[in-house]
Amino acid sequence: MKLFVLHTLMATPLRSICKASFCSSSKHLKGGVSMVQGASRGIGLEFVRQLLEKTEKDHVVATCRNPSGATGLLELKRRFEERLDIQQLDLTVESTIEASANFIRERYGSLNLLINASGVLSIPDVLHPETTLSKVQKSSLLFTYEVNAVGPILVIKHMWPLLKVGGASGTERDVAVIANLSARVGSIGDNRLGGWHSYRSSKAALNQLTKTISVEFARRKDPVICILLHPGTVDTDLSRPFQRNVPEDKLFTKEFSVQKLLSIINNAKSSDNGKFFAWDGQEIPW
Ligand SMILES: NC(=O)c1ccc[n+]([C@@H]2O[C@H](COP(=O)([O-])OP(=O)(O)OC[C@H]3O[C@@H](n4cnc5c(N)ncnc54)[C@H](OP(=O)(O)O)[C@@H]3O)[C@@H](O)[C@H]2O)c1
Repeated sequence: MKLFVLHTLMATPLRSICKASFCSSSKHLKGGVSMVQGASRGIGLEFVRQLLEKTEKDHVVATCRNPSGATGLLELKRRFEERLDIQQLDLTVESTIEASANFIRERYGSLNLLINASGVLSIPDVLHPETTLSKVQKSSLLFTYEVNAVGPILVIKHMWPLLKVGGASGTERDVAVIANLSARVGSIGDNRLGGWHSYRSSKAALNQLTKTISVEFARRKDPVICILLHPGTVDTDLSRPFQRNVPEDKLFTKEFSVQKLLSIINNAKSSDNGKFFAWDGQEIPW
């Protein structure tokens, strides 16, 4: 009987065993573990691509609402089968956030970098950025707040116990990093044009929530920092309906923007905790 079990184990590829149950060797990885939340398309998908292409050992957990429809991610999965995990996560359903945290805990034990890359500005026939106060609706304000501010904070709440220094090949970071994708229009000090009430205020709320968390991390002397990033105006589905008045040289490709943002992330230090950076490393006023 014992021999039969041994024979069966020897005949089973290691990967299948790991998939069927907990694989302890995966907790002793050489590279780091990053999570990109909101990875189905746009800037999030580009983060996943660059994190995988620019390192040889790092692992990425990419989350999105509908993994089977995330064609860009599935294509990356075919190229980086061993180093990319795709998990279902909808920011408006906290149990899916908790399930992703449990997955990371069991598979990797810890996390070195968390990027919240999701966001919503408009949805055809559902959500339109307001041009005047008379167009402001309670439902748009609350929906945008839920996706852009509440969701990313719940993700941090569940991932926080997993965050540890280390990983990410090619970086000398002495802190684990949480990077939340915000937007310059979320700056109250920089608000000269008005409009986009829901989006602006949801990003301002994300900024305040992130700053609040950063104060707690510092007080506890946790080796974890959180930063806010403005990616510039980037050619994605989010900006496409609003690109008409953007000068050509001010409309960035996803590749360029993410390269700049990763450089900020990879060079982040404890003194950056709670700061709001633009793509070029300049600090943005609150
Ligand atoms: N593009 C720009 O010019 C620009 C400028 C300033 C700031 N930003 C910020 O940068 C971030 C990325 O923007 P982007 O241009 O890459 O936008 P995008 O191409 O529209 O992608 C948005 C992402 O958010 C995800 N998402 C939306 N609602 C979600 C939910 N309830 N749960 C989980 N994921 C959800 C989408 O997933 P689905 O595929 O499931 O919808 C998608 O992956 C956002 O925070 C945005 O506000 C962008």
